[in-house]
Amino acid sequence: MEGQKTSCRLPDTVVPVKYTLRYHDLDLDRCTFAGSVAIDCEVKSEVKTVELHALELWVTSAEAVMDDGGGGGKAGGGQKKLSTVRTEYDSKAQTVTLCFVEALPVGGVKLELSFEGSINDKLAGLYRSKYTGPDGETKTMAVTQFEATDARRAFPCWDEPAIKARFELEVLAPLDRRVVSNTPVMMSNEETAELPSGRKERRRRWRFAETPVMSTYLLALVIGEFDFVSAYNASGVLTTVYTPVGKAEQGRFALHVASKALEYYAETVFKVPYPLQKSDLLAIPDFAAGAMENWGCVTYREARLLVHEATSSTATKKAIARTVCHELAHQWFGNLVTMEWWDALWLNEGFARYMEFVAVDHIFPEWDIWSALRRAELGRLASTFPSTSHARAAMALDSLVASHPIEVKSAVMIEEQVDNPDQINEIFDAISYAKGASVIRMLAGHLGVAEFMRGIHDYLVKHSYGNARSDDLWAALGNVTGKDVGALMDTWTRKVGYPVLTLAEDGSTSQARFLAMAEDPATATAASAKGDDGGQGTVWRIPARVVWEGAGEGEELVVMLEGESGAEGGRKLKEKVQELQAAGKWFKINAGQRGFFKVNYNEGGWTNLSRAMQTRAISPADRAGAVSDAFSLAAAGRASTGVALGLASKLRDDPDSLVRQTVVSSLLDLISLYSEETFFGKFQELVRSICLPMWESITWTAAEGEPQRVATLRPLLLRTLHLSGSVEVDEEALRRFDAYVNDRAGSAPPADLRYVILATAVGVRGDSAFRQVIEIYRTSDSGEEKRQCLSAIGKARDAALLSEAMGFILDSGEVRLQDAGLSLASLATSALGSKLVWTAFRERYVELHDRFSDTGFIWPMLVGSAVMGPRTPEHLTELEAFFNDAPKPVGAGERKWLQNFEKLRVQVAQLARDRNTVPQALR
Ligand code: BES
Ligand code: ZN
Repeated sequence: MEGQKTSCRLPDTVVPVKYTLRYHDLDLDRCTFAGSVAIDCEVKSEVKTVELHALELWVTSAEAVMDDGGGGGKAGGGQKKLSTVRTEYDSKAQTVTLCFVEALPVGGVKLELSFEGSINDKLAGLYRSKYTGPDGETKTMAVTQFEATDARRAFPCWDEPAIKARFELEVLAPLDRRVVSNTPVMMSNEETAELPSGRKERRRRWRFAETPVMSTYLLALVIGEFDFVSAYNASGVLTTVYTPVGKAEQGRFALHVASKALEYYAETVFKVPYPLQKSDLLAIPDFAAGAMENWGCVTYREARLLVHEATSSTATKKAIARTVCHELAHQWFGNLVTMEWWDALWLNEGFARYMEFVAVDHIFPEWDIWSALRRAELGRLASTFPSTSHARAAMALDSLVASHPIEVKSAVMIEEQVDNPDQINEIFDAISYAKGASVIRMLAGHLGVAEFMRGIHDYLVKHSYGNARSDDLWAALGNVTGKDVGALMDTWTRKVGYPVLTLAEDGSTSQARFLAMAEDPATATAASAKGDDGGQGTVWRIPARVVWEGAGEGEELVVMLEGESGAEGGRKLKEKVQELQAAGKWFKINAGQRGFFKVNYNEGGWTNLSRAMQTRAISPADRAGAVSDAFSLAAAGRASTGVALGLASKLRDDPDSLVRQTVVSSLLDLISLYSEETFFGKFQELVRSICLPMWESITWTAAEGEPQRVATLRPLLLRTLHLSGSVEVDEEALRRFDAYVNDRAGSAPPADLRYVILATAVGVRGDSAFRQVIEIYRTSDSGEEKRQCLSAIGKARDAALLSEAMGFILDSGEVRLQDAGLSLASLATSALGSKLVWTAFRERYVELHDRFSDTGFIWPMLVGSAVMGPRTPEHLTELEAFFNDAPKPVGAGERKWLQNFEKLRVQVAQLARDRNTVPQALR
């Protein structure tokens, strides 16, 4: 495709240095805005046209101002103004081109533009969010969400992460509103303003301090009514948490976490001071993502910021602590040093995810948060109950052909670079976040955490106020450690997938990409169509640690495995394995589960290892890792599900919550897979026989001083027991539900159990409970509880109620857009629910597309829920037919549909195998 335009990047003939941005007419009733921007630019080569980003924005006037050259005899060296002959919009490229009467000369030029746009309802750009005022009236606040590519909806700009500039912002706002932005307020004066409409009104003019040099996607503006709590830290930085009016106290927890984390990052972790004077956290009622790291002005969905001591669950507190620490990590990783382009997004998100754990572990050591990177924990928005672990989720996704490398450009986007907004939005996924964080953790373990942090410090200092690529990071780490970090990390970040290490009878190891469907002809075809080998030929450099029976305290074998050819590490390992096998001793490869790979032992290896698991000779992390590998090897057809189930049965007495959580999550996956099979009853029996013994030691009530991890295991176990038909558990849940309905204030269930109780009641009772839960939704004051209600109504078991639930979520006007995706996903987890969601999606596709496809977040979730469907070959055919010829392009949902479709195919194949083998294992 020679000559085809492969990039939507802006030309670099003219670049901005400073934006002076004014919003002089923000109309919160009519939801429109008018503003002006003066941009100090550097013209690099003479041009008559200037192209910059603008989307759904109208440039009403534009001119260029420059020195007229000084000479020419005019006193004072006058200014010259150039006007435009035309402005051209390109809605596909999302740009506006200013065409001037004559060429702009090289040097400094000021562009002066006026523009108009609307305060939209798409949760992107400058958008509106609704809240309830003191008299119960609905009011509107205006909020920005610019990442990844929506600053261009709010003002004309060079909307690319590497085109950094300074910003000075001024806003004329209604008197009753507070305005918050990245920097401190320099001026806030009341005045009589004459609006462009000619109307005169009392307004307040807010002017903010100039920002440091930064990317457009980090600029923020919030205009609303808030209460707040705040505190100075030892270095004089002011942290403020803005909450809805009347809820200031609910900001205390986040304030505590934010103050501590900021200091810890600045003084201990990065050893680079926080670059701004203040750090704000704001709760926004309508918010697409979980939170957004705008420099000095981080925005959060309410559920990710506010803690009500009495009604917030443990899970919510953990999620909030992690979110706060994540966004603060971005203040350095992302804001101070920014990825050069979106294909290196993982430098932002993978690091921030990794740092979440570093900081939360420091603030709450008793939470043992690191194990959450591996073990089952909260689902994406923490609203329902534990489902997937980070590494597990990343490994599941990365085992698909439709996955992508951490650094996206190299393989998946072979013809096109990642540069259209849909493609950019798609990569905010488990690969960039969780695989990114996991390989960073693997690297930090390999280099030693202290050395690693020294390299990070150097990297941050060197690229402050600039941009970086992965190679810059490897260089900094290499300088500190003297190692060739790039060579080590190359395959992990530039290649799709990860290896499974297979141990042969003779103790030699081989590696291959782990694919969700090991033997699949379609895989090879799909990969070759993309012009790569789908990761099959990749040889990863695997830093592997091994522990074994009889090893001394802390003794480990550390080897670097580089495929058969990389001899040395493989040879050492083989020798050790042969020696141990001869003696009948167990060994565990990937000790501590720090490596991002799976291990498939030979038969003797598995037998000895399962003994070590049962006697608990190996650590909880290793037990959990081995059992989780066994289940995923079975799902991929590389081992038998019967063997994995046997292993799970042996662990039923394991007292460790991490191990339990892994076993229970793995069983839960199968419950959903087998629910329509004839052997389901038998399978439920097996699940009960494993879970009931665990439940006996946990019970409904928290023991005094019980470990934190038990608090998150409890609801998972309850949900699994419910789905495996444990009547006694259901009865107690119903009793508690009735008590709650009859006395909302006095008999509220413990927050950690609330969702399970609601969901069980809807599942067992149907109609009456369904209505009671909707009533709780309508009257509850807690965002967390509201979302749990929405998930719970999706657990009804009859079609009529499920349709009603779907109608409530999509059409009642009572559910915020931000909550729709998650609620539908909950509905789609059952066989019946998934059919209904799919049918509605297909029938209402165009309408839903129009409503949702502009919201970078919600649409992919919706597409994902639609592609959960029944696990039948017919359904696969139907899906394929639909998406290959969809009435409108699926856009930002493209990758999601491909991934979920592939997951379904894997499940259909597993089901076909397990139908023949699992019933025997259950006998
Ligand atoms: N930078 C993201 C938010 C974002 C993602 C904006 C995609 C635009 C497009 C933010 O730092 C983030 O990662 N948020 C998480 C919260 C999480 C870390 C707890 C999210 O929204 O899920
Ligand atoms: Zn992030």
